[in-house]
Amino acid sequence: MSTATTHGGPGLPQERRLVTEIPGPRSRELFVRKQAAVPPGIGVTLPVFVTQAGGGVVVDVDGNSLIDFGSGIAVTNVGNAAPRVVERVRKQVADFTHTCFMVAPYESYVAVCEKLNELTPGDHDKRTFLVNSGAEAVENAVKVARHATGRQAVVVFDHGYHGRTLLTMTLTAKNMPYKQGFGPFAPEVYRVPLAYPFRWPGGPDNCAEEAAAEAIDLIGKQIGAENVAAVLIEPIAGEGGFIEPARGFLPKIAEYCRANGIVFIADEVQTGFARTGDLFACEDEGVVPDIICTAKGIAGGLPLAAVTGRAELLDAVHVGGLGGTYGGNPLACEAALGVIETIEQDKLVDRARHIGEVMLPRLHALKERNPIVGDVRGRGAMIAIELVVPGTKDPYPAAEIARRCHAEGLLVLTAGTYGNVLRFLPPLVIPDHLLDEGLSILERALQG
Ligand SMILES: Cc1ncc(COP(=O)(O)O)c(C=O)c1O
Repeated sequence: MSTATTHGGPGLPQERRLVTEIPGPRSRELFVRKQAAVPPGIGVTLPVFVTQAGGGVVVDVDGNSLIDFGSGIAVTNVGNAAPRVVERVRKQVADFTHTCFMVAPYESYVAVCEKLNELTPGDHDKRTFLVNSGAEAVENAVKVARHATGRQAVVVFDHGYHGRTLLTMTLTAKNMPYKQGFGPFAPEVYRVPLAYPFRWPGGPDNCAEEAAAEAIDLIGKQIGAENVAAVLIEPIAGEGGFIEPARGFLPKIAEYCRANGIVFIADEVQTGFARTGDLFACEDEGVVPDIICTAKGIAGGLPLAAVTGRAELLDAVHVGGLGGTYGGNPLACEAALGVIETIEQDKLVDRARHIGEVMLPRLHALKERNPIVGDVRGRGAMIAIELVVPGTKDPYPAAEIARRCHAEGLLVLTAGTYGNVLRFLPPLVIPDHLLDEGLSILERALQG
């Protein structure tokens, strides 16, 4: 069955529909071509080849309709082919596709920056500039922090993930697969503990206090606060396993930065744009970063990322010191404006909270019945379960459970430093009946 003549978007039938095994024969043929043309370093979570997607489903070349608990890794928060995004991009592509903002500018770039200055945490004077990817945003945030402070050291955390370029791979904690064989790494990057409640030796209640004290002590002893340009942290560690730092940890670190003239950078590449039930995850504890990096959910899948920060920091860089050929491409900017309109008009922050309210109680109940589920955590539509060998905290591989879900038509992703986290990132527009059905599939997958 071919669905090639229909379009994606929210008009797609919102149903799970399996008409072949997963992956089906046409996907398997395409995967053979992929293997011959694309290096294996580009791994694939679920080798079904996509023809359309929208609402809470992804449709493949064999006519299967899968429930989407991945959103292309937290990107299609407003859903695939969201109408306001499609409309704006369609108009833009017919008007002009590129001039390079640094050569001859256009209004949509400025409008996106104005919106981000207004919507990101803090009411101080801000500036924003646009780049192409999350990694590029993080790299640029570090450039700005170093330039503005005249210092070099960057402090990052255990379990952190910030990208795959030389600097961001260095900033990333996990060796395999992100760093293995790719050294030497960038200098002046230092790692300190993250307040990981489930695995903190002193227990979850002492976690924030002890982890912050340890981190601050390490910075003072091993680097010297006066040498630190920036502290960079994800307000919820994404690839590291959806680790919500114990409450109190982020404010303590932010306060330490303020007291020592260190730029506090929040990497909200995965947590941003309504995903966690706030527009930005830092809002949960009222933390106001000096610089915030955004990407992924910003433009519904068109390549766009942003660095937003205090005007005095961003304005410190000389003319021509920032930029790039494609950063803030006009199609991506129109998409971002469509995303922001959709989040605001369709109240997707509330919708993310609702998703959390549906998912968390069911997952907690699941934990009671399944000793393999060691921890349930997350906020809004950024939820995970950490799998353990029953009766221990030894990691249990999430890939095995993910495979069972995939076979039943539920697209889930894994994560975690120990590869033992199943993470759930449904599009915020997913209908409730697909959420429920997805959770039932997960329940069966956990039972084996
Ligand atoms: C928190 C975080 N930072 C940075 C990145 C890198 O973004 P990109 O893949 O767009 O370079 C990611 C990607 O997963 C991320 O989750």
